Amino acid sequence: MATKVIVTGGLGFIGSHTVVELQQKGYQVVIADNLSNSTIGTADRIAKITGERPVVEVVDLADRDACLSFFRTHADARAVIHFAAAKAVGESVQRPLHYYRNNLDSLMYVVEGMWQTSCRKLVYSSSCTVYGQPERLPVTEQTPRLAAECPYGNTKQVSEDILTDLVHGQLPPDGQPFRILALRYFNPIGAHPSALIGEQPNGVPGNLVPFITQTVAGIRPCLQVFGNDYGTPDGTPVRDYIYVCDLAQAHVAAMEYLDKDAAVGIDFLNLGAGRGYSVLEVINSFERSTGEKVNYKITGRRAGDIEQIWADTSKAERLLGWKAGTDIDQMTSSAWKWQQSLAREQ
Ligand code: WQD
Repeated sequence: MATKVIVTGGLGFIGSHTVVELQQKGYQVVIADNLSNSTIGTADRIAKITGERPVVEVVDLADRDACLSFFRTHADARAVIHFAAAKAVGESVQRPLHYYRNNLDSLMYVVEGMWQTSCRKLVYSSSCTVYGQPERLPVTEQTPRLAAECPYGNTKQVSEDILTDLVHGQLPPDGQPFRILALRYFNPIGAHPSALIGEQPNGVPGNLVPFITQTVAGIRPCLQVFGNDYGTPDGTPVRDYIYVCDLAQAHVAAMEYLDKDAAVGIDFLNLGAGRGYSVLEVINSFERSTGEKVNYKITGRRAGDIEQIWADTSKAERLLGWKAGTDIDQMTSSAWKWQQSLAREQ
């Protein structure tokens, strides 16, 4: 009997790519998703890739009764990968209460559901935003967390604290301790090579790469580059862009790592590619890899943005035997193929 894994937010960008990797490794996947930033059709797209449609339950995990009922239904699940959260930096500045309510309530009810069903292995979707603007680069997992620059980043810091206090608190009645890995993502971009799944934000994209692809596709008139007066080589902010399929594979490796005795308690891993690219370098990569021109203009800075960050990924490489290996042009090219695939469906 295949091991059952719950993937919350499994119809989302990173979640759907992780479901594909899990199914291709023989796991039985159950998705819990509230469709706030995803569509049910993604389950059919996953099935086209893997040959198996994952079980999908549309559930608001921030609703305690609904969440606990979901966990009772799937009490045979042996692990949870928890993606479900609101995650746009800019939006979180505009809607802080929504971010705290949604991201923290859903985390605590998911953990309560695990507690009640003796499920103890949790891979948690954290974020490099917990570091704020680091004083030294690259960031390691020992880099101090600075005051988050936005409510989204603060929900990730508070969530990490909740999980840390959980593992330091009383053991569950069955005496089985939690085993938790909090994965601090940098900037996930790109799309599955099949171009059947990819980033599909509802409404106006908050993130850079989908805004680029929608601008080139003619959906948006012009990309705004939010500031070129930062202390970086070309003045635009630098981020560590990681290919979404590399990131998905890291999640499977992290879940499997939790079977080891050393995994009891909680640990933190930086998941990036280990180098930084500026906004203009991403634009240049996109134009180079696709042959398309990006219409953009330099505008003022965006509230909540930091200047530059990239990861030291040696701990993830050591613990998981994993390393992101996809280059920036392959990432931007895959994002464009996905956008073209969407256009063909219109
Ligand atoms: C990247 C750069 C913008 C849009 C993301 C995720 C967050 C977290 C960290 C996982 C910035 C610039 C963007 C645009 C622009 N990841 N930009 N014009 O803010 O680094 O946060 O990574 O948890 O969830 O949101 O990513 O793609 O929004 O911005 O100039 O229209 O692109 O200023 O420098 P960010 P982003």
